[in-house]
Amino acid sequence: MTHESIRIIHDEHAALAAMLHSLRMMVKRGPGKEPENFFDVLRAMLFYIDEFSDRLHHTKESELLFPPVLKRAPQLQEVIARLDKDHANGEASVREIQYLLLAWELLGESRRPAFEQAATRYLDFYLEHMRLEETVILPEAEKVLTDADWKALDAAFATNCNPLTGKYPRDPVYDRLFTRIAMRAPSPIGLG
Ligand SMILES: [Fe+2]
Ligand SMILES: [Fe+2]
Repeated sequence: MTHESIRIIHDEHAALAAMLHSLRMMVKRGPGKEPENFFDVLRAMLFYIDEFSDRLHHTKESELLFPPVLKRAPQLQEVIARLDKDHANGEASVREIQYLLLAWELLGESRRPAFEQAATRYLDFYLEHMRLEETVILPEAEKVLTDADWKALDAAFATNCNPLTGKYPRDPVYDRLFTRIAMRAPSPIGLG
C-alpha cells in the first residue's frame, strides 16, 4: 500500500513535471505573434515553480521526508546530500532564469539565447532531480520507514495541497496563479 505522504510527493512531481514540460514547449515555440502573452505565461510558470515547488515541496522533502529515510538508510547519505544541495540552490537557480527572462523581454532578442540555454539546463536538472527522488528515495522510504515514521510524515504532509492535481482542498493563495497559467499556457498544462 502506498502511504499518503508518498502519494502526495508523486502527485506534486507529476504536476511539476507537467509544468516543466509545458515550460519547455513554450520556450521552443517562442513568443510568435503574442509576445505579451508569452512572457506573461512564462513569468507565471517560473513564479509558480519558485513559490510552490521550491518553498513547499522541497521543504517537505528536506525537512520531513529525508531525515527519517537517512536515519533508517544511512547508505543514502551521499544522494540525500546531493538532493538537499539541489533544494538549497533551487531558489537561486530559478531566480537566475527569471532575471534572464526579464532581460530578454526588456532588452530584446540578443538576450534570448542566454535565457534559452539556462532554462533548458534548469529543466533537465530539475527533471533529473525528481527522477532520483522517484527511483531511489521513495522506494527506499517504502522499504525502511516504520509505522511511527509514516504516521508522523502523513500528518505533516496532509496540511499541504496542490492546486494542479486538484486532489486536495485548494490553497486560495495559489488559485489565481493556477487559473492564470491553466487558461493561457499550452498543453499539457493549458486548456487550449
Ligand atoms: Fe526534491
Ligand atoms: Fe521532489
